[in-house]
Amino acid sequence: APAGSAPPQGREHWSGQTAFILAAIGSAVGLGNIWRFPGQAYENGGGAFMIPYLLALLTAGIPILFLENAIGHRFRGSAPLAMRRVHRSAEGVGWFHVAICFVIGLYYTAIIAWSLSYFWFSFRLDYGDDPAQFFASQYLQLGEPGTLSAHIVPGVALPLVLVWALTIAILALGIHKGVERLNVVGIPLLVVTFGILAVRALFLPGATDGIEALFTPDYSVLTDPDVWIAAYGQVFFSLSLAYGVMITYASYRRRRSNVTGPALVVAFGNSSFSLLAGLAVFATLGYLAHVQGVGVSDLQGIDGVNLSFVTFPAVIAQMPGGQLFGAMFFASLVLAGLTSLISVMQTISAAFQDKFGWNPRTTAVAVGCVSAALSIVGFSSSTGLFLLDTVDQWSNQLGIVAGAIAMIAAALWFGRRGHELERHLAAVSTIRPGRYWPALVNVVTLLLIYMFMSKAISLA
Ligand code: PHE
Repeated sequence: APAGSAPPQGREHWSGQTAFILAAIGSAVGLGNIWRFPGQAYENGGGAFMIPYLLALLTAGIPILFLENAIGHRFRGSAPLAMRRVHRSAEGVGWFHVAICFVIGLYYTAIIAWSLSYFWFSFRLDYGDDPAQFFASQYLQLGEPGTLSAHIVPGVALPLVLVWALTIAILALGIHKGVERLNVVGIPLLVVTFGILAVRALFLPGATDGIEALFTPDYSVLTDPDVWIAAYGQVFFSLSLAYGVMITYASYRRRRSNVTGPALVVAFGNSSFSLLAGLAVFATLGYLAHVQGVGVSDLQGIDGVNLSFVTFPAVIAQMPGGQLFGAMFFASLVLAGLTSLISVMQTISAAFQDKFGWNPRTTAVAVGCVSAALSIVGFSSSTGLFLLDTVDQWSNQLGIVAGAIAMIAAALWFGRRGHELERHLAAVSTIRPGRYWPALVNVVTLLLIYMFMSKAISLA
């Protein structure tokens, strides 16, 4: 097939609007909600963080989510193909998105694999009374920091292989039978599991201290530009914006579908999950502080890898009925992670399908095997953990900002497609974005450029 043509069997479709919404929520709800949002809020002004966060959601998150949905729906293609249709020299912007997805895919899989192991460990509380030591020495078998021991640890490689096999199988089944089915089953299951966990957490002794620590507002942070950057960054990452993911998912919608309404459901659904996670995580931290007889502010390891694989295991081991609580927590991480991982891998796979006319099965196997090999080698060495941080900085903090600026510039600044996208949104949607929409996106771009510069300077 010539480059850029649709695969022979025609473009796949979601079975309906609900399937699309669940899949898009599946992409949005991930580690960013469970282990990133609560810590970000706590460190950036607590309750006061809700002000920049909500403003970021309304002024950047939702408008850019509209933009990506409009691009995907109007131009019906994977990120590179849709971007080329937006502007003839913008295909590279789409490939840049694909490259970032590739990087994220590698480490997201590692974390899902670790969570899968910890799901298993929770039933017997294998992590014992020194979870930090268990994680680093016994589970990951890290050598001395700085040494490059790249031996493959079977206990880590096995779950990684499992996660990759599952991912490849789901992608190979295609949008309708694979990606859609995973989300239609996985997202309700996640909401129920995490909901029960949150309610349980709220009844732990000390829970209210934790929640108070999370929400006590410190309004002085509002004059700090870094807090605003953190809020915008959180919203972008959390809504999977500027990764080409939403463009790709929107491209599988039927021609006559409402674009803005479902996008709003996705945005507010995602933020609601973040708030629920904030309550659950800080209620649990409050309990930990209570048990240790310290204040919540004295606790270490309140987000990211440490929260999940060190702090939570410590709580779980001390809590009555901890096994079940632990299993539900790690099951939630696996479900939230897997539905996000599928979206980034589908973005990559769709790009190659559109470019070379390959079918979903061939593409899934090709893309999946290359990524799997790299992630197994990369995360079986003592460099894995170090990699994670560096990768996060470059791709999630610098890369996506650049990707967002380029996408907006191609669509609204340099191309002639801006008005077409605007009219398209108005024509197919129940909720009309109105005239403020392009203006907002332009203001956001200026802010993004500022973010990019300050981040680049700090990394240089
Ligand atoms: N939105 C996901 C989260 O909050 C992360 C993600 C980013 C997923 C980009 C897909 C693409 O964890």
